[in-house]
Amino acid sequence: MSKVTVVGAGNVGATCANVLVTQSIADEVVLIDIKEGLSEGKAMDIMQTANILNLETRLVGVTNDYEKTAGSDVVVITSGIPRKPGMTREELIGVNAGIVKSVTDNVLKYSPDAVIVCVSNPMDTMTYLIHKTSGLPKNKIIGMGGALDSARFKYFLSIALGANPTEVEGIVIGGHGDTTMIPLTRYAAYRGIPASTLIPAEQLEKVAADTMVGGATLTKLLGTSAWYAPGAASAQVVAAVIGDQKKLISCSALLDGEYGEKDICIGVPCILGKNGIEKIVEFDLNAEEKDLFKKSAEAVRKTNSALSC
Ligand code: NAI
Ligand code: 2OP
Repeated sequence: MSKVTVVGAGNVGATCANVLVTQSIADEVVLIDIKEGLSEGKAMDIMQTANILNLETRLVGVTNDYEKTAGSDVVVITSGIPRKPGMTREELIGVNAGIVKSVTDNVLKYSPDAVIVCVSNPMDTMTYLIHKTSGLPKNKIIGMGGALDSARFKYFLSIALGANPTEVEGIVIGGHGDTTMIPLTRYAAYRGIPASTLIPAEQLEKVAADTMVGGATLTKLLGTSAWYAPGAASAQVVAAVIGDQKKLISCSALLDGEYGEKDICIGVPCILGKNGIEKIVEFDLNAEEKDLFKKSAEAVRKTNSALSC
């Protein structure tokens, strides 16, 4: 029996729970929020699709009752405030740090062995905060950002190539920020063929630029930050852990010398399995990519310095 808790029944959390249920990723899902009735309502709405969609997963919603989350294998933290138009992810730090810290303490009281997936922004800094304050081993804390940024990269790439989105490859590393993420255009491919040989360099650069502002573009259109792809990307990370899939997914991980960095959580290619981050894969970066990674790490460190832990 697998059990997943999703904290925060807002846009991203409820979408993540919906994907976990509709894709049968876990046997049991608990959706928890501080706002009275919200998770109960969202869970009930989702479960009313069970007969229509032939769903077997059991989803329950609870208001702030962490006892019901006991024994979770994976906990996804989406609680916090989202971006509004014109705001950066970094501006959310003060409010979200307090929320993420108290939520982590609560979930670990009842699920001390859980793998934590941090989604709340600024995500790399919130993931680092969990490392600093929870006492969990580093493999058990996964920051979800690269999974989403890579999905956006592949979306823009598929449009540029006129290809089926499932047939393109692309990965984004670095911080989960408009100026800190690094879409690795050199490794982008269409069925194994380098994308750089199929479309002009300027078009590939535009794909990377659109990816980097992908979140901001949606925030402007929607009036708040996006949720369908963020929810699905969070569920993808959960599926890799619950199913011990050994999938290579870009995640924010605590580095200890990998990519030349230490004591920082930032997006790198990770192999995910039942133990969380089972391996960090070191891609062979060229001088320009190494430089971008270094600058990205500097920016993430600057945001981390606003933490009081
Ligand atoms: P939302 O406002 O729709 O939902 C947040 C929910 O958290 C609300 O329902 C609120 O009641 C709940 N909440 C607040 N404090 C809580 C607490 N102490 N305990 C339990 N629940 C609490 O926001 P949305 O759009 O779902 O975004 C959630 C977070 O995820 C934001 O910080 C956002 O910036 C981030 N995000 C991160 C992404 C990533 O790739 N890492 C992508 C998209 C959003
Ligand atoms: C996103 O990338 C704002 O992190 C959020 O959509």
